[in-house]
Amino acid sequence: MFTEENLKKIEELKKKYPTTQALVLPVLWMAQEQFGHISNDTMKYVAQLLNVPYGHILGVVTFYTMYHSKPIGKHHIEVCTNVSCMLRGSAKIVEHLEHRLGVEIGQTSPDMKWTLSEVECMGSCGTAPMFAIGEEYYENLSTEKVDKILSELT
Ligand code: FES
Repeated sequence: MFTEENLKKIEELKKKYPTTQALVLPVLWMAQEQFGHISNDTMKYVAQLLNVPYGHILGVVTFYTMYHSKPIGKHHIEVCTNVSCMLRGSAKIVEHLEHRLGVEIGQTSPDMKWTLSEVECMGSCGTAPMFAIGEEYYENLSTEKVDKILSELT
């Protein structure tokens, strides 16, 4: 169940959007922020709340990489491997991260500290290679810089 505060936000959003289907993205985002990830039960709950078919919710959650249907680690590292980052060494960054964290792309460490993902261009091509952790961008990466960033995260 959403918190009272989130339910109020949803009621406010309903006044701004023409249909409840148009609320799917922000409400799923709210769900992920409250629950940490969007489980099957949460998808059914959101579908019922917005009177939108469950299949539509499932399609949205599985299409957009920013939604997580499984629990993710405390630090979610999203490494861009698109063209600019690839040309500036993202493969070496990925290899270094996999070695340092003991996980491969798409995996979460057993202690739930790290999740490592590969993503498409994040609009930071001029400072490639880069990754994001949460909403923070880390740019012009080198393996040394990656080590420093990881050492500062608890
Ligand atoms: S290609 Fe990596 S940020 Fe654009």
